[in-house]
Parts: sequence; C-alpha cells; structure tokens
Amino acid sequence: MDAETLNAVTWAIPNVLCLIGSRSDDEWNGMTQSWVTQISMEPVLIAISVDRKAVTNRLIHAGGAFSVNLWDRDDTKVFRTFSKPATRIGSTLNDRPVREGVTGVPVFEEAVAWLECRVAQAIDVGTHDLFLGEVVDAGFREGGREMAVARMEDTRMKYGGVRRGGH
Ligand SMILES: Cc1cc2nc3c(=O)[nH]c(=O)nc-3n(C[C@H](O)[C@H](O)[C@H](O)COP(=O)(O)O)c2cc1C
Repeated sequence: MDAETLNAVTWAIPNVLCLIGSRSDDEWNGMTQSWVTQISMEPVLIAISVDRKAVTNRLIHAGGAFSVNLWDRDDTKVFRTFSKPATRIGSTLNDRPVREGVTGVPVFEEAVAWLECRVAQAIDVGTHDLFLGEVVDAGFREGGREMAVARMEDTRMKYGGVRRGGH
C-alpha cells in the first residue's frame, strides 16, 4: 500500500462539510470541518476530530463546547474562507452572522441546521484530538428541513489521508 492509494481510498469515504463554532471568552472562531459523526444514541454524542494545531482545538479545550453548522449545498465557497482562522467583527465571523448559543459558542444564523455540544471527552488520537460532544441544542433555520446540506463531493477540496507538511 502506497501513500497515494491510501489517500485516494480515504478521500473516497463520503463526508459532510460543515463549520465548527468555538469560543474562549472574547475569542470566537469558525472552521471548515469534514470529520463529523454521531457515535451514541444515549447520550446523543457527536464526535469531531480537530487538528491539534488549529485555533479551534485550543478554543474547544478552553471553552468546553462547540457548534456543528450544516450548510447550504449551493454555498460551498464558505469552506475556503473558513479554512484559516476567522475574523470576528461584532456578531459576525468572516462577515457571516452568528449568535451565541446556549453554551456561549457561536452558531451561524445561515446554517441550514445546527447542533450545539458540550464536550464529554477529549481524546488525543495523534495529529488530531477527538472531541466527543453531548448534544444540548439543535435546530433548523426556516425551510432548513427541506434543504440539502453540503458535503465534500460538492467541492474539489480534499481532507485526510496521510500526513503532509502543514497538514
Ligand atoms: C475541505 C476541508 C475539510 C477540512 N476538515 C477538517 C477536519 O475535519 N478537521 C480538522 O481538524 N481540520 C479540517 N480542515 C482544516 C481546517 O479547516 C484548517 O486547518 C483550519 O485552518 C484550522 O482552523 P483554525 O486554526 O481556524 O481553527 C479542513 C479543511 C478543508 C479545506
């Protein structure tokens, strides 16, 4: 097995594309994320795996919570913008309106649907930390139930596979 094959196979795994909201005091962030899945029904737990070098990783450790913001399939340019630390001006991150969720983390007003989670466990799994979050709030925006959410195959972007410089 060579690295190219391993990359191609891991990239063939279907994934959502969404934005993770995180916060520590006055520092707020939003980040493009593809590694997201439900892992328990009781409690309802959502797992996200976040690069240990990411600002978001530090903010989730400090704040103990995160939001998962599912996005409109027709608006994928947002994922480029949020693949580096976001600029917060007032109640916006990279000009996208956010509100404070019940845990205090930013929740995107434009999200088709969102989940808000309190961290139940954080596990060091290598390059990334796996955050297991218990869902404390969830909802759709108006009309959101009928909308298709963004996924990796809607873009030409890739994430995962073997480690490269500055992964
Ligand atoms: C399509 C795409 C998917 C990504 N998925 C993830 C992911 O699942 N986990 C992760 O840690 N970083 C992921 N990233 C990388 C982060 O978005 C990127 O490293 C970001 O700069 C780190 O965020 P932060 O430092 O602003 O918190 C992805 C990037 C792209 C472009």
